[in-house]
Amino acid sequence: MGDRKVIVFDTTLRDGEQTPGVNFDKDSKYKIAKQLVSLGVDVIEAGFPAASNGDFEAVKNIAENIGDVVVAGLSRCVKSDIDKTYEALKNAKKSRIHLFIATSDIHLKYKLKISRDEALKMAVESVKYASGKFDEIQFSAEDASRTDWDFLVKIFNEVVDAGAKIINIPDTVGYAVPKEFEKLVGYVKNHIHDKDNVTISVHCHNDLGMAVANSLSALESGAEQVEVTVCGIGERAGNASLEEVIMALNTRKDYFNLPHSINTREIFSTCKLVSELSGIQLQPNKAIVGSNAFRHTAGIHQHGVINNKATYEIMRPEDIGITTDHISMGKLSGRNAFELKLKNMGYELSRDEINLAFKKFKDVADNKKVVNDDDIKVIVDDVILNTKSFKEGELWG
Ligand code: KIV
Ligand code: ZN
Repeated sequence: MGDRKVIVFDTTLRDGEQTPGVNFDKDSKYKIAKQLVSLGVDVIEAGFPAASNGDFEAVKNIAENIGDVVVAGLSRCVKSDIDKTYEALKNAKKSRIHLFIATSDIHLKYKLKISRDEALKMAVESVKYASGKFDEIQFSAEDASRTDWDFLVKIFNEVVDAGAKIINIPDTVGYAVPKEFEKLVGYVKNHIHDKDNVTISVHCHNDLGMAVANSLSALESGAEQVEVTVCGIGERAGNASLEEVIMALNTRKDYFNLPHSINTREIFSTCKLVSELSGIQLQPNKAIVGSNAFRHTAGIHQHGVINNKATYEIMRPEDIGITTDHISMGKLSGRNAFELKLKNMGYELSRDEINLAFKKFKDVADNKKVVNDDDIKVIVDDVILNTKSFKEGELWG
């Protein structure tokens, strides 16, 4: 495989927000977007502007303030959505509309209740209508992995002829298996018009636990863009996890040899932030960032790791930004040590939040000899919850 750069399209703020129970407000979206820039993603899908006024404002705010990264907004293939997306993205340095329509027979028949030809017409007319309004047009064939391959290629070619430059192959319901998905991507790649100027993207869901495996297979098969979410959050069982895809590419560089622009040292703090703001706790055995990911329990394993970490660790925790700081926190610890501890634990808090957390920490430290990382986590969770409900209280009077 060559050394083309993988384009990382992050959809934490759009598909990630479709996680049941998750709702990012404007401030939370902006905080996450800023962290995604530090992480080095190429495209931030900031939301679905036509879905609600709140999301429209959140996407607009990111588009206007975030800087050089490409900002994408999701849009159905209807004029009113395209207009809303334009209003939200028009001041972005680099804007991308992400148009989608379902293409599988089951979605056409039971959801959209339209024919293949009608879907084709809506897709092409929408791409034409969007042309000139955005820097880039991406088109997704929803439920592509259950779509007739020839119809899929037909609709992709027509939208490419109409002006789409990125075509996305979603495994919307997490139905694909890696070898089959690899073949599908290869098939699309071989049949697409203007291949040298079109970017092929994949977007995999995790219903069968294969989102990351399918994404990696697709990259092997020539996909240039991968759509991911931080911690794999998303609709139902979630999306391909950014940290898993990236650390697979890094750890098995010998096999994939695919560069990307992610600064892996920002992974841990990004996951922490998304977990805090989404309220989703990471399972302890979550690959890469779970609390057990670098823990060794069996005596034989501990013995191996003491002699040479590589016996049981295929990645270095510091490469994903996990630092073991050996700072023991207690009542004599000062503010600097506390702030350093928060930073090492991956928290990015506002001044007010730090002040409140430090005060609570001192109260706990008065009654406990050592305040460990778990205690600090409880303190910070409490502070974030309090400031969040305070803000909501302000909003609702
Ligand atoms: O899963 C899906 O098909 C999507 C599309 C909107 C790309 O999220
Ligand atoms: Zn999706």
